[in-house]
Amino acid sequence: KRTVGIVVAAGTGTRSGSATPKQYAPLGGRAMVAHSVAAFAAHPGVDTVIVVIGGDQEEAARAALGDVTLVPGGVTRRESVLAGLEAVAASGGAQRVLIHDAARPFLPAAVIDSLLAALETHGGAVPVMPVADTLAFGADHLGDVVPRDRLVRVQTPQAFVFSDIMAAHRNWPADREATDDAQIARAAGIVVALVEGSLMLEKVTYPDDFAAAEAKIAASSH
Ligand code: CTP
Ligand code: MG
Repeated sequence: KRTVGIVVAAGTGTRSGSATPKQYAPLGGRAMVAHSVAAFAAHPGVDTVIVVIGGDQEEAARAALGDVTLVPGGVTRRESVLAGLEAVAASGGAQRVLIHDAARPFLPAAVIDSLLAALETHGGAVPVMPVADTLAFGADHLGDVVPRDRLVRVQTPQAFVFSDIMAAHRNWPADREATDDAQIARAAGIVVALVEGSLMLEKVTYPDDFAAAEAKIAASSH
């Protein structure tokens, strides 16, 4: 089954406080985005990798990634994913696709294994983690607690049957945003399986997250 990994790397990284977009910040001796691209490329279940990049980032992307397919992204993450999916469709399609944030640099092969296994029986699959903190509404003062036992934190990569997620994205209203692809899949009736996520997949979002990511490199043989 032809399987394509799409890495979305067209954001600006505003919350990270990084001078350049965070996905090009150095991490363990190479650009952040290069880590997940290498993980996809090294996995035997992934045939091709494409990277969705910002309009003015081609030079940075080439320097970081070398000879990989680059596709221009959009203003929102959803638009960037759609651009990636359309590029897959235009280049002959695929059976399966894995959609991943460049901002989650460390991508364990075991998670890819679990996702691809889940796709044998489901239209989609996502890695999830439990919620450890108490969750509550918080505006002015502390509000009601939200029971957390049935809640999960959803990570990427998110795996889908390509034709299903392609159709789901095309049918999603252009004026409505979505923070991930699984919610777009669900809106189209795709049943999304849950697989075990990983601490390695935590997203680099805020300034302190860079140091946490460096520490993960130091702690593993990544
Ligand atoms: N992304 C993208 N295209 C966009 C926005 C985001 O490809 N228009 C990508 C980012 O590059 C990142 C992933 O989606 O790899 C997750 O988004 P996020 O962590 O929010 O990154 P940014 O949008 O870059 O950061 P911020 O929201 O702080 O500006
Ligand atoms: Mg963002």
